[in-house]
Amino acid sequence: MTVQIITIDGPSGSGKGTLAAKLAAHYQFHLLDSGALYRLLGLSLHQHNLLDALDSALEQCIKIATNLDIKFVTTETNNTQVQLDGEDVTQIIRTERVGEFASKVAAIPELRAALLERQHAFAQEPGLVADGRDMATAIFPEAQAKIYLTASAESRAARRVKQLQGMGLDVKINDILANIEARDKRDMERAVAPLKPAADAYIIDSSELGIDEVFQLMTSFVDKQLLAN
Ligand code: DC
Repeated sequence: MTVQIITIDGPSGSGKGTLAAKLAAHYQFHLLDSGALYRLLGLSLHQHNLLDALDSALEQCIKIATNLDIKFVTTETNNTQVQLDGEDVTQIIRTERVGEFASKVAAIPELRAALLERQHAFAQEPGLVADGRDMATAIFPEAQAKIYLTASAESRAARRVKQLQGMGLDVKINDILANIEARDKRDMERAVAPLKPAADAYIIDSSELGIDEVFQLMTSFVDKQLLAN
């Protein structure tokens, strides 16, 4: 039996994470949150004081990337706890700061290569939903269903502000928007595995759509693709 693969790529804040988890639950497939791997590597290199030495200590950084001790543990309440070296880092890897660390390491080709095998290992029966930036273009080009989920920078910033305010944080929309635009630029313009839709991807713009509407569009597309392949 071949492993069925659904990829979801797109910029941060497009709703990819939520929708990838919903699709994985719907199809009872495994889930790869590849952004979490870059965040974990960014955090680990920061803890080793190597983030400012990515070039000069590249060999050491590659070794750390290859041997990262990470676990995704399902808790009793059915949430996923992320562990790095046995420590619960579920919350900390979601911060803007660790997002910056991740974006830095993600621009280094050798570090991306060091995470390749780990990502391929997630492709197990009956199938996988892979969420990231280069899932369809670089990691799983053989995927049966490729989706590119995007939204305007303004609507992504508005969603992020709502989320942060919900956590009790005082944030300004213009700061968040500037952050999102800077991250998009870095992710789209980097030389290796830049963020872009695969030629055969189904592109969905979620600026004006709710999660349920996007989910409907996705499952109609995926059902068709999985039947056809
Ligand atoms: O999706 P995210 O915000 O958790 O991703 C964190 C960073 O990692 C982001 O700057 C882009 C990078 N990333 C990547 O380069 N390739 C991936 N497949 C996933 C994330």
